[in-house]
Amino acid sequence: MTGDDDGYGRVTSGFYDGAYARLRDSSGDAAWYRSLAREARGPVLELGAGTGRVLLPIARELEPQGVACVGVDRSPEMLNALRAKGLPANLRLAEGSMQDFDLAPERFALIFSAFRAFQHLDRVEDQLGCLARVRDHLAPGGAFAFDVFHPRLDRIAILEEPESEDARWVQGGDEIVRFASARRDPVNQRVHVRMRYERWRADVRVADEGVAFDMRYFFRFELEHLLARAGFADLSLYGDFQGAPFAAGASDFVVVARVA
Ligand SMILES: C[S@@+](CC[C@H](N)C(=O)[O-])C[C@H]1O[C@@H](n2cnc3c(N)ncnc32)[C@H](O)[C@@H]1O
Repeated sequence: MTGDDDGYGRVTSGFYDGAYARLRDSSGDAAWYRSLAREARGPVLELGAGTGRVLLPIARELEPQGVACVGVDRSPEMLNALRAKGLPANLRLAEGSMQDFDLAPERFALIFSAFRAFQHLDRVEDQLGCLARVRDHLAPGGAFAFDVFHPRLDRIAILEEPESEDARWVQGGDEIVRFASARRDPVNQRVHVRMRYERWRADVRVADEGVAFDMRYFFRFELEHLLARAGFADLSLYGDFQGAPFAAGASDFVVVARVA
């Protein structure tokens, strides 16, 4: 296997849309963030915008009204994949980290961070740094919306999850097969994820490339305390992107927070 990168470099950016068109779009997350953006009636910022899976349709919808949309991401490869799709005039991209971005004097009616990007902030100081930057960039009455996975106890109790196929799709005439494995570190609430992508052409494996990255997981009251500590007083917590209340079997924590 060749081509390891740091999680969101060349390998992941090349396969991201192929993989998540199947694995994530079905959750309804993009439609949910889009309706929040529509209701916000003001500028929109996404932290960890990636290839624009969620932000690009929002910017396209809001372009006729001239609503400014901004995407921040620390990966130039992910942002280049988004640029290659063609940016509407109201969408601007900024390479940077969600824990220390500075877009002053701009303020946003909605700031969001879709598909667990916040879980790439391993250290509490980075999580608080991000929430402080969000507060500073929210317009009065604005909302911060994000999702992280719900660490279901049955799942996180499995410390070593062996590699298994989790997606398969056709891209550029080749068949791509993705394999995932995970190692969990309950002391640090961290999952070490490994993805391996095989490219098959006419029954011959022509490439085999891997990436690895860490994700921090959060428990419910930890998230609530973190947000309270960062000055967010008005919280709504859901268990999915259809607005169901958070419940035991939920796969996600979906949060909307406002500064009181
Ligand atoms: C799972 S992807 C989500 C992309 C997009 N939000 C979506 O829903 O498809 C996570 C993204 O967060 C970005 N990211 C990770 N850590 C970051 C950080 N500290 N600051 C900014 N972006 C970060 C990655 O480069 C990647 O594009």
